[in-house]
Amino acid sequence: MKYSEYSVVVIGSGAAGLYAALKISQQINLPESLLLITKASLGESNSKYAQGGIVGVVHQNPDDNVSMHVNDTLKAGAGLSQKATTEYISAVSDEVLNDLISNGVNFDRDSNGNLTFTLEAAHSMKRILHSGGDATGKGITDALVKAVKNNKNIQVVENSMAVELLINSDKVCKGAIIYNEITGEHEVVYTSALVLATGGVGQVYKYTTNPNGATGDGIALAYEAGAVIQDMEFIQFHPTALAISPDSKNRFLISEAVRGEGAKLVNKKGEEFMSKYSDKRELAPRDVVTRAIYSEMNLEHAPNVFLNAAFLNPLKLLKRFPTISSRCKENGIDITQKPIPVAPAAHYTMGGIKAGVDGTTSIRGLYAIGETASTGLHGANRLASNSLLECVVCAYELADYLSFANLEIPKKIDTGIKKMIDVYSRTVKGKEYDYESLKSKLKDIMWNNVGIIRTEESLQKAKKEVEKLKNDFKRQRKCLNQGEYEYRNMLTVSSLIIQGAIERKESRGAHCRSDYKQTNAIAKHSELIKTH
Ligand code: FAD
Ligand code: SIN
Repeated sequence: MKYSEYSVVVIGSGAAGLYAALKISQQINLPESLLLITKASLGESNSKYAQGGIVGVVHQNPDDNVSMHVNDTLKAGAGLSQKATTEYISAVSDEVLNDLISNGVNFDRDSNGNLTFTLEAAHSMKRILHSGGDATGKGITDALVKAVKNNKNIQVVENSMAVELLINSDKVCKGAIIYNEITGEHEVVYTSALVLATGGVGQVYKYTTNPNGATGDGIALAYEAGAVIQDMEFIQFHPTALAISPDSKNRFLISEAVRGEGAKLVNKKGEEFMSKYSDKRELAPRDVVTRAIYSEMNLEHAPNVFLNAAFLNPLKLLKRFPTISSRCKENGIDITQKPIPVAPAAHYTMGGIKAGVDGTTSIRGLYAIGETASTGLHGANRLASNSLLECVVCAYELADYLSFANLEIPKKIDTGIKKMIDVYSRTVKGKEYDYESLKSKLKDIMWNNVGIIRTEESLQKAKKEVEKLKNDFKRQRKCLNQGEYEYRNMLTVSSLIIQGAIERKESRGAHCRSDYKQTNAIAKHSELIKTH
């Protein structure tokens, strides 16, 4: 097996990974280079598809302030967001967003060159910056990809995935095993700082807004390595994903910003229904809107409801939402004329690897940022557009933290790590699994039993069925291809979601159990740690 050494290794190239790589290499004179490894092509990620925007409490928006943003975040978080973390992230957002702008990210501006801000659900004012109308993620990732490619200190390896973390007997992370899908080779990378920026777990659900790569790899690897994982029961289901027939499982998002601009939810008879569920109607917190839609779908035995934007100014609508209008058009829907069929889909992972705002985790040498991390900002229900903000703030803070760290390459490899590496030098016996159909079985179990509404019975059923899938899948460590590795990781994170959901005997935010009432009382985070 090939061995190599780097001062810093960043895994993942969404907003968090790209910006971390850039800031670290801009800020630190590294003894060796920085390696950025990513599972597909550079920039392919959830980040790339982000639509609505990114929260910024910026000086260019003088009517806004940190305490208003913090209040909105805490309210949406249903008693589980950490106030100090929220205040910190909100307070530095001005500095970080302006740094993003100076690194080439263009946010939309009016004809006078002033930034324009939009509204999304549960925000008390317009504070969301956007790019290309509804192509904010592309605007951010394209600019960061360009900056990373132009930076000679960053070495990029595409189509490679981290498949195991190397932890020594002192419980310090010393690197990772990497698998390259194109060559079929495994490789060992040693480093003094391993950064997981691997995104969320949306793909464990049958219906999701997330692209194929969101299989929870970082969370699964960190759990197996003994890191503390928190709040996995909190999965955010976005209320409005495009629901067209023939049914697509990866559902295209219809941004909340469409409701922010005035669109209304209606049932199949064309009747508005949100006032039955919340006085904030279409702009109630995401979990409330999702459950309202779910309830209407059940009442009507319908596969979807509709989002009506057809009464809004058509020119404005097309200009503000170019990506959404053209994707709908490809599917025969003119959004200026017809309501859009929508249904909820798994969207965001509030939980993840327990981490500080600077990415530090419970394992020395291991850092986690972005959706794969759980800093406590989002609590039980993320406020719209806070996640891209968290990605960039945590990347920025990590670079600052590492500028004071010793980034000399580890010299001695201990016997525990040698044994781990040995596993990957051996040949795997047995045939390739049909991982596509296994993944699809798992997604059905999760959607049907660990979805928008959960019960003790459904969770215990899911636990049993996932245990069976785990027992049937004989590969605990080395696998034969990327699909098998992803399935292995999806099994791990599914078990973590189920376990968290069983242990949380209440309904709170996005974790809704029909056998317990909703509460917003201040609560503790849940923690799961592997005992070896
Ligand atoms: P990602 O962007 O998901 O990047 C993860 C990266 O890690 C990818 O490059 C992936 O290929 C790589 N990777 C994964 N596993 C491995 C592995 N084992 N080895 C190597 N590489 C690996 N949030 C907002 O704030 N505003 C929005 O408007 C918004 N809109 C959204 C719209 C959609 C359709 C979706 C899906 C999400 C949206 N979100 C939005 C959420 C937000 O986009 C994500 O939370 C955020 O982009 C996550 O960024 P990240 O860098 O942490 O992870
Ligand atoms: C959206 O545009 O509705 C997604 C925003 C988010 O997930 O924060």
